[in-house]
Amino acid sequence: MLIVANWKCNPKSLAEAKKLFNSVAKGVKNIKKAEVVICPPFLYIASLGSGLKLGAQDCFCCGGPFTGEISPLMLKSIGVKYVILGHSERREILKETDEIVNRKLKAVLRAGLKPILCVSSKSKNQKQEFKEIKKQLERALSGINKNEVKNLVVVYEPVWAISTTKGGKIATPKQAEQGAAFIRENLLKLFGKNLSQKLRILYGGSVNSRNIQEFVAADGINGALIGAASLNAKDFIESVRKS
Ligand code: PGA
Repeated sequence: MLIVANWKCNPKSLAEAKKLFNSVAKGVKNIKKAEVVICPPFLYIASLGSGLKLGAQDCFCCGGPFTGEISPLMLKSIGVKYVILGHSERREILKETDEIVNRKLKAVLRAGLKPILCVSSKSKNQKQEFKEIKKQLERALSGINKNEVKNLVVVYEPVWAISTTKGGKIATPKQAEQGAAFIRENLLKLFGKNLSQKLRILYGGSVNSRNIQEFVAADGINGALIGAASLNAKDFIESVRKS
């Protein structure tokens, strides 16, 4: 299983980030069955040490005269292994398009990093949702051949199921399974049977230690992307243990 912590714009200080990181590193040290990746805000990454694999929550496509941006090569130089791309919050709030995601994804692959591509829809109508997800996959992966994508990870994250820890609806394991199956079907069309079966598909949306078992037991799901619950070391360690 691949368990990815997406800290988003948290915690508030480097001291808290270090504390959380060190607690998680200690807690998951002896759990061998899961690969754990922590994705902190850019600013903290280089200060967290090597106790756990590190990912970034985004990156830019290029280096050079791009004020405020961070390139894949910079991330690589500080030991980052994975980069989340196309998260629904970036698509929605920062208006990131499929074309931008595609350029970033190509750059991440060129740098030898592993992309964690998020696909999502706000729609609760499965037909509409899948139509949007298909478009996102085709556009984000356009111009990329199968020899380049063996390290691709795709996350199925229904937007309405994200950050509902304080109440609200979460997806059922059946819905997660159907979403993952639909993604795999599209990966098969794009990259063929062999590769599509090997690529890892995660579920994301209010996963925590109480519900992770059901999600990772679902057919075709190879792990989880955990947001809010990854900020609680105890709960996150428990999630890794139960995965
Ligand atoms: P959440 O975030 O676990 O807080 O819902 C998940 C995500 O952003 O995919």
